[in-house]
Order: sequence, then C-alpha cells, then structure tokens
Amino acid sequence: MKNKSNTFRSIVLGVGTSLPKNIVTNKDLTMKMDTSEEWIESRTGIKERRIASDGETTSSLGTEAAQIAINNSGLKNSDIDLIILATSTPDNTFPASATVIQASLGIEKGYAYDMQAVCSGFVFALEAADNAIKAGNVKNVLVIGSETFSRILDWDDRGTCVLFGDGAGALVLSSSKEETDRGILSNHLHSDGRYGNLLYVDGGPSTSSQVGFLRMNGHGVFKHAVKKLSSVINEALDHNELTVDEIDWFVPHQANIRILEAVAKKVGLHKDKVIITLQKHANTSAASIPLALYDAVESGKIKKGDLVLLEAMGGGFSWGSTLIRW
Ligand code: UT7
Repeated sequence: MKNKSNTFRSIVLGVGTSLPKNIVTNKDLTMKMDTSEEWIESRTGIKERRIASDGETTSSLGTEAAQIAINNSGLKNSDIDLIILATSTPDNTFPASATVIQASLGIEKGYAYDMQAVCSGFVFALEAADNAIKAGNVKNVLVIGSETFSRILDWDDRGTCVLFGDGAGALVLSSSKEETDRGILSNHLHSDGRYGNLLYVDGGPSTSSQVGFLRMNGHGVFKHAVKKLSSVINEALDHNELTVDEIDWFVPHQANIRILEAVAKKVGLHKDKVIITLQKHANTSAASIPLALYDAVESGKIKKGDLVLLEAMGGGFSWGSTLIRW
C-alpha cells in the first residue's frame, strides 16, 4: 500500500543493540542450582543469556543501543525529538530512565518517557511513536527496549530464573510524506488485566516499598501466549488484507521456542521465516524484539522493502503486533 495521501509514514532508519559482557551458559547455572542443561534447552530452546554486571544498567545498555541505532540511521543525536523506552526494569522508580538516556546522549530538546507493557513493551512503544509521527508532532523518534531482568529474578526459583536475560535494542523511526510503500503499516494492541496474577512482580513502590521478584505460572502463560499471538497475527493479516505467505519475516518476542513453533503451526507460517535469537539471549522482555531485529538486519535476512511482522505477549496480559514494510 503506497502512501499516496498527504499523511506521514514512520520509516525505519536504523537499528542498534547492546548486551552485557557477562555470558552465563546453562552449564554455568547447573553449578548454582538444581537444574540441567537438557531441561533448560529442551523446554525453552535457551542455551545462554547475558547477565548485567555492577555498573551495567537499563539506561547504560539502552544508551549504547540507541547510539548505535542513531549512527546507523545517518542522523545526529540532536535530530532526535522523542525517546520512548520500553522497560519494566528502570534504573529507579523515577525519573524515567528514558530521560537518563536522553541526557547521556547529550540531547537537550524534545521529550522522553518510559513505556511499561512488560514483554509487549516494544510494540506498545512503536505504536506510540508511530502515532506521534502521524500526528505531525515529531520528526525523528528513538524507540528503545532495554531490560535488566536479572535484578528482579528470584535466583532461588529455578522455574523462572533460568528463563531470562539482560540486554537492549533500539530503532530510529523518521517521518516521511513521500510516496512510499515503506514504513509502519499497522499496530494492534491489547491488554486484559484479569490475567495479572499469572505473571507479575511481587512488589512495587505503592504496595511494598520494595522492588519485588518476578513470579510466573509458566503453564498458564504458555497456553494464553499461543492463543493470543496467533490471534494477533491473524488480526494484522486481515487488517492489511495479506496472507501469511506474503509476510517475509516474523520477529516474535523471544520467550520459548515451543511457543514460537506452536504459533507457527497454528497460523500456518513457515518456520524458516521466524527470526529466533532466544538461544543466545533468553527472554529479555521488551528488548527481545529489537535484539532479534538487529540480528536479522545485520545477517542480511531483513532487507529494505521486506514485510516484517513483529508480535509479542507478556505480563498484564498485554499483547500486540506491528507490521512494517522495512
Ligand atoms: O515473556 C513473557 C511470557 N513468558 C512465557 O511465555 C513463558 C511461558 N511458559 C513457559 O515457557 C514454560 O511453561 C516454562 C519453560 C516456564 C516451563 O515449561 P513446562 O514444560 O511448562 O514445565 P513445568 O512448569 O510444567 O515444569 C515441569 C517440571 C516440574 O517438575 P515436576 O513437578 O513435573 O516434577 C518443575 O519442578 O520441571 C521442573 N522444573 C525444572 N527442572 C529443572 C522447573 N524448572 C526447572 C529447571 N530445571 N530450571
């Protein structure tokens, strides 16, 4: 669909990532807890993850990813009008870590805020960025997903702590009024707070004055994830009058290989079109989609003009999709 009307389109100009230096393999975890390499890999597909060291924070990882994305976009830091940081693990309760990143990048204009939709945060942030661009409010937007989930894991709970990792990814969007078929084509977002007790953190400023730890009913989340991801993919396809075969790449939130395979089977998409990076990053929540995007762009899979469908589901529940002509 070409952009023939006199409206703005949000075009992707650059992607960047940053990962903590410290690699923790499944084998490393077997030295610390009652688990096995076989259990973790066969149940999840995860082989290793990055864990932030002292001094590596959501904002420091986010800043590094953002700087790479800006460099790749051909823009200057001072061209950025808006920064949206998707995170559930901000440096502090406030100020927004997005403003810490803004200052670290030496940006003194525009505005910056955090978006909290847990593992779906990146698609929620893309929708907000796309709307700000379409409204004509901003020209260049930095959308970042950055997380340090290792800091909210209960390392005595083997059912959750082996599943997550730390990292950051960023994307630069820019408005274009040109007649182009590139850019964000659709966003579909959902949440349903009735399922909050299946995946949550058991603390927070207003309840316990403590940060708390992640708690999850894995089975419950798994079942909903397959259903909700399949339905949001079909919603995007129907809205854009596309068939599943017309999508070049699926870039899902990276939680569990078995979820990705079950969704692929349910909607009839070819496994080779699914970008998978969870084996080396584990579940990095809001950072997982931009980390996977960067991998796919750098390895030459995603190319200009490709149709790319992003989809995510997580705590809340929240879930959604973004369709982009790259
Ligand atoms: O990003 C947000 C969305 N999150 C997700 O999408 C996660 C969704 N859920 C899942 O990915 C899966 O449910 C898990 C990977 C969390 C768990 O897989 P599962 O096949 O549902 O395993 P389970 O929870 O049923 O546990 C099976 C067994 C239990 O032992 P018993 O009771 O059968 O004897 C657990 O105690 O596996 C045991 N277990 C472990 N064993 C070794 C749980 N964690 C471990 C572990 N190592 N780390």
